[in-house]
Amino acid sequence: MSNKQARVPLPVTGERVALKARKVSFSWEETPLHWVPGDPFATHTMNVLHLLLPAGERWFVHVYRQILPYIRDDRLREDVLGFIGQEAVHSQAHDEVLPHLREQGLDPTPYTAQVDWFFEKLLGDRTLPPGRARRWWLMERVALIAAIEHYTAFLGDWILNARELDRRGADPTMLDLLRWHGAEEVEHRSVAFDLFMHVDGSYRRRARTWALAFTTLVFLWQRGIRFFLANDPTLVEGKGGFRDFYVRGRRGVLPSTGAMLRSIPRYLSREYHPSQEGSTEQAVAYLASSPAALAALAAEKGAK
Ligand SMILES: [Fe+2]
Ligand SMILES: [Fe+2]
Repeated sequence: MSNKQARVPLPVTGERVALKARKVSFSWEETPLHWVPGDPFATHTMNVLHLLLPAGERWFVHVYRQILPYIRDDRLREDVLGFIGQEAVHSQAHDEVLPHLREQGLDPTPYTAQVDWFFEKLLGDRTLPPGRARRWWLMERVALIAAIEHYTAFLGDWILNARELDRRGADPTMLDLLRWHGAEEVEHRSVAFDLFMHVDGSYRRRARTWALAFTTLVFLWQRGIRFFLANDPTLVEGKGGFRDFYVRGRRGVLPSTGAMLRSIPRYLSREYHPSQEGSTEQAVAYLASSPAALAALAAEKGAK
């Protein structure tokens, strides 16, 4: 079998959710700096999302606007448009946490400037001539997004089920932000992969871009955690390492190392389809009860 356009795995269920952006907003006045009480390491590990996602998800939208002309399937185009709408709101919602961190003495600008450079310049359009090179770079980025979305779905499924955070009294507004976002990630988890399979589907490209996405995410994440711990004005000695991550994974306040490792061969399996991960039913149920999503729905109805 040729490596290109290999067998396309099918979704495990026939269900399909029409994707729509929920224009949520959050007020952060009541959220403490360490919103997982007494656990700056867990707090800051999850806070890295606010550093990576604004630029990262803006970049998704930028790349996907360029891929639209390559889509030959109306249903997929509709899904991609829904995905673009959701990711644009996600990016903005995480961006809006940053002023709150600044007010609490934790200015993330030195780190976000690097992340912006990474997505806008390194993974940007580059000055490629129209034709093969430009198409190659676009397909490479579409495959990268599919790999990253494997992890956003993984994290979305994790946060929806992370009951230990509730037991420890984690801030409800932050939990709602993460769970609303996580639920939409689970809801649209198949779009990036289906799009990649539709426009390219090369297994070699899937494996290569997974390796790049995974190493880059691990690199950026651990740098982000160190940045937060070192600059947190309330910490005398802000340090943390893999052991801290591992232990919290065992306790259920962060994803477990074992679950993360097990997710790797799943993405690399030729039988993989994102619909095998997480539960659409659970995601939709959360979105039907999320305070932010309900407020957005009420505001939308009020505006009509
Ligand atoms: Fe997102
Ligand atoms: Fe996503």
